[in-house]
Amino acid sequence: MATTRTSSRANDVERRAELKTEQHIPVRNLRFDLDPERLRDWHPGGPVITAFFNNLSIFFPAGERFFIRSVRAHRGHVTDPVLREQVRGFCGQEGVHNREHQRYNEMLEAQGYPIAEMEARVERLLAFVEKTFPPRMCLAATAALEHFTATMGHFLLTEPELLEDAAAPMRDLWRWHSAEENEHKAVAFDVYMAAGGNYPERAFAMVVATVLFWAKVVEHQARMMKADGTAWRPGSWLRFGDILVGEAGVLRGLLRPYLDYFRPSFHPWDVDNRALVEEWARRLVETGSYGAADPHGGSEVPPAATRG
Ligand SMILES: [Fe+2]
Ligand SMILES: [Fe+2]
Repeated sequence: MATTRTSSRANDVERRAELKTEQHIPVRNLRFDLDPERLRDWHPGGPVITAFFNNLSIFFPAGERFFIRSVRAHRGHVTDPVLREQVRGFCGQEGVHNREHQRYNEMLEAQGYPIAEMEARVERLLAFVEKTFPPRMCLAATAALEHFTATMGHFLLTEPELLEDAAAPMRDLWRWHSAEENEHKAVAFDVYMAAGGNYPERAFAMVVATVLFWAKVVEHQARMMKADGTAWRPGSWLRFGDILVGEAGVLRGLLRPYLDYFRPSFHPWDVDNRALVEEWARRLVETGSYGAADPHGGSEVPPAATRG
């Protein structure tokens, strides 16, 4: 696997500084040609796993706008020019993800799923978090959720069979998003630390984010399966349990990186997976689905992508 884990603490600090300086975060203004007719059955593993991926898409538009707001609210603390540039790349990538998942979700809504209502509930939850907690706690929650997106993305890229036989545009969208989440995986964390972040606060934010996020995942899954007419079949829930905690389950794969976040010395670049991400970027370019600019050109880059 194209991943290395550094060993001693001194080496860690040195290596992280190098990775931070090296990491370029390109904004690729891509569009994915999703087929609305395939949204219910685009994954060969069946309707429950298709609903699971579709379920995750519901979070992104509101979630990524929250991430961008949280990072931007603290950019005044960032004096390092490299990190300032990375903040621009982060906002740009999340802006394009936001747009593509919005289109994906609108197609799901048109297929009869109650997506707009679920999106509105995510939006309200995040508005409540912003109203209740101080801005730096919102950034700590962003860093925590970015750890989820990066580690889930890493999991999808290191277990390519999970998407191998899926409908090509959906497969490529999820791999593109996975790769870019890893390219920018340390930005929210580094801005949080530049803003004076501390261990107890970020650990607390991770616990709260974990509870709220996974409670919403279960709620979304129930509603997606209800719309599919599969929610009352015990086999559907067994399949969902298998996706989460089965032998090749997502939560099993994510447990160790999740616990890593609770190390006081944790940093997202403790796992140097740049080679893995670059390899996927290269492969997706070869398929013609990744790296090709939006045919509509730069004017289509959403506003979130053009300001840092
Ligand atoms: Fe994203
Ligand atoms: Fe992200």
